[in-house]
Amino acid sequence: MISCCCLQQHRPNSSLSLTYSRKVTFGRVIHKDLLLSDGTLIPARTIIGVPSHAITHNPDLYPNPEIFDGWRFVSPASPIGPNPSSPSLPTPSPPTFVTTNSANLSWGYGKHACSGRFFASYEIKMVIAYLLMNYDFKFKENQGGRRPRNVSFELQNAPDPTIEILLRRRR
Ligand code: HEM
Repeated sequence: MISCCCLQQHRPNSSLSLTYSRKVTFGRVIHKDLLLSDGTLIPARTIIGVPSHAITHNPDLYPNPEIFDGWRFVSPASPIGPNPSSPSLPTPSPPTFVTTNSANLSWGYGKHACSGRFFASYEIKMVIAYLLMNYDFKFKENQGGRRPRNVSFELQNAPDPTIEILLRRRR
């Protein structure tokens, strides 16, 4: 379940909402004219990126994309990937926190996908488990029961650094 919540949280926000994430990943500089298979020409000296945040907020891929649903990825049948009505997109597979595909670019994709994600995911899950077992949390101000909105700047998406959280060690 922690794995599914991590995957869910990795999608709309930053990693576990503790760090920054990018709205555009795969930043690359094209050094030579590049002709794509669909005929699109990307001229040399172009900077490109993939709008990963927009993709993970596409309601055709993720129904109710703004909603945190810890159960979203629990069922092996739940599509992390594309709507079956979009055959050009890859076939959904049962997701884990470290799954990469064209609909979940949090770790990158393809041969340059994050090679540290297996280590990172274990570390993140251990930290979360420790915190949940040993501390209670609440926001300092009443947020109306809702998670404070992220802040966006440049290509970054981050938890609001001005929000204070109260922690109490469990007895
Ligand atoms: C939550 C933590 C992490 C996130 C969200 C993350 C995310 C990413 C992403 C999105 C990429 C692809 C960048 C691109 O294609 O432009 C990447 C690449 C990479 N990451 Fe991570 N990463 C994390 C932790 C780590 C850790 C802990 C390590 C090492 C111990 C690591 C090592 C790498 C390496 C070596 C690459 C480059 C792989 C290549 O180019 O072949 N990452 N990471």
